[in-house]
Order: sequence, then C-alpha cells, then structure tokens
Amino acid sequence: MEARQNTLTITGLRTEFLTPEGPLAAVDGVDLAIPRGSIVGLVGESGCGKSVTALSVLGLVPPAGRVAAGEIRFGETDLRTLGEGALRKLRGNRIAMIFQDPMTSLNPVYPVGRQVAEVLRLHRRLDRWAAKARTVELFQQVGIPDPAARYDAYPRQLSGGLRQRVMIAMAMACEPELLIADEPTTALDVTIQAQILRLMGDLRRDHGTAILLITHNMGVVAQLCDYVYVMYAGQIVEAAETFALFRAPRHPYTQGLLKAIPSLEGTADRLYTIRGSVPDPRCPLPGCRFCPRCDQSRQDCARQVPDLRALAAGHWVRCCHIS
Ligand SMILES: Nc1ncnc2c1ncn2[C@@H]1O[C@H](COP(=O)(O)OP(=O)(O)O)[C@@H](O)[C@H]1O
Ligand SMILES: [Mg+2]
Repeated sequence: MEARQNTLTITGLRTEFLTPEGPLAAVDGVDLAIPRGSIVGLVGESGCGKSVTALSVLGLVPPAGRVAAGEIRFGETDLRTLGEGALRKLRGNRIAMIFQDPMTSLNPVYPVGRQVAEVLRLHRRLDRWAAKARTVELFQQVGIPDPAARYDAYPRQLSGGLRQRVMIAMAMACEPELLIADEPTTALDVTIQAQILRLMGDLRRDHGTAILLITHNMGVVAQLCDYVYVMYAGQIVEAAETFALFRAPRHPYTQGLLKAIPSLEGTADRLYTIRGSVPDPRCPLPGCRFCPRCDQSRQDCARQVPDLRALAAGHWVRCCHIS
C-alpha cells in the first residue's frame, strides 16, 4: 500500500519512559499503517505497549515518557513536528479518540449533551437546535436510555458505562478521518458492545473513517478488522490481513492468543492460556523476547534477535524459525 493512501503511517516509533534504571522502551521500533477507510486491529496482552502506541500518535504520552524516535504521519503531516496547539486542533476534530477512562475526554463542569452539541456546532457548523437534536439522536444510537433526559446530566451523574457511551457519541459526532479506539467496549455489556462495534463499521462506511481498534478480544478483531497487528513486549511480532491471520497464524504468540479464545460450543475443558507473563521491559532479553514463553523455542532463540520478515504479500512475522 502506498504511503499516501494511508490515513496514518507510523515508522520506527520508539517511545521511552524515564526510570531510575534508565530509559525503558515501552514501544520499540513499531511500523504500522492504516489505509484510508480501513479498520486495523492492534492486539496483544496487557502491558505490551498498545496504549502507549496510541498515546504517542495523539501526542498524549504522560510526562515521564517521550517519543524518542520515529515518524507519525497523518496523511502528509508529520504529527511529531506539530506544536501542542496544532495537535489539539486535530484531536477531537479530524482525529477522534475513545479511551477506557472517559473522564480523560469529558469536562466535569458541563452537561454531557452540551459537550457533544458543542462539537457538532464547531465542526459540523450546526445551529443550536440542530446540534441538540443530533446529539440526542447520537445518544440513542450508542444505547443511552432516555437520551433526551441524559442530555442535561453532568459526567459525575452518569455511570462509567454511560460516560463511555457519551465519549463514543462525541467521537462519532466529529465524523473524524481517524478514530483511535483503545479497548472501547471492554467495560460495556455484550448488547451495547455489539451496537458500538456496528456504529464504528457505519462510520467507516459512511465517512471513510480509518480506525485503529485496540483490543484484546480476538472475536472483535475477526468481526471488524481488515488487517491486524499483533504486539508483544513493545514490538510487532506478526501482521497480516485478518482472514490470513485467523486461517494460518504463524507466530507462536499469535497462535497462543487464538487458542485462548473461548469457543462458542464450550468444548474445551479449560481455556488455554499462554504460560508465563509479559517480560519486564526493565530487564531486556538478549534474543527473542517471546522465547521464555514459547512452546516451539529452540536453543538459539535466547540469543538470536529475530527481525520482522515478510512471509507472503502483506504477512509479516518476527521469528527466527519461520520462513
Ligand atoms: N506512565 C508510565 N510510566 C512508566 N512506564 C509506563 C507508563 N505507562 C506505560 N508504561 C510502560 O509501558 C508498558 C506498556 O504499557 P501500555 O501501552 O499501557 O500496555 P497495553 O496498553 O498494551 O496494556 C508498560 O508495561 C509499562 O512498562
Ligand atoms: Mg492499554
């Protein structure tokens, strides 16, 4: 895919946190592209660097951290060269985000309906009445019961799940070119979850929105994503079209993640889990980072550093023993 057809192109991203032991790379050389109008999944266990990748794109890495290297292109613009003012203008307009913690994007002192209506007035140039009507409609679409009454509620008067849905409504209101959704439905019940995922699909279809969908739910990936990146210990270990990844996962880590999906029939006696845990980034491993947990590791894996290599068109794997 040519870079100029991408809404987002990340190259060689390295994001570090300062620790007493020195800089720690939470994201270590990530390349990732989101073609216009596509939904791209980023999966991996907790602590792999998914959220830090998203925050790096948005220029929202916490103060202890910094983007140390790499390029982050939104269309033709390198986001790393933009000042805070220019970035803020992009966020919540051409780039929208949905986080697990809605309080990061809601203002506690304004009613939630007004906050969404404000976005519609600013970015869609709607008048007051049209903005209010559209907000109530959006609230209904994201599954907020009694949407007209909830318009005047303050964030603290809503449950976590409802706040989450307000934030999703706000992201939809922008009709953004890029939506970054970090575990957007994790806290929601299954029915609402399905509704939100459908809305994201509509957003892509109707407005050509490119979506980065961060999730640990492989079922969600299968349902919605065109392409998937699998992240482990700060690096991409496998990347492929969704169909190819599910049909023939090549990296032992991806195979483990897929085996860990509960089956609908419930035939498995016990849910498979990958043994061990994500390595501590403060103690970097000399060879393959997945080696200590890999059920296919060989003697040289602990020493040999694997590169991300193309196995087939669009299918990349970081493993010394797969060709
Ligand atoms: N504020 C922080 N300070 C120091 N280290 C952090 C901070 N946030 C994240 N990290 C480091 O980055 C790693 C990746 O975190 P994160 O991107 O949140 O993982 P994920 O979203 O995949 O669960 C963590 O394991 C931790 O080592
Ligand atoms: Mg996260």
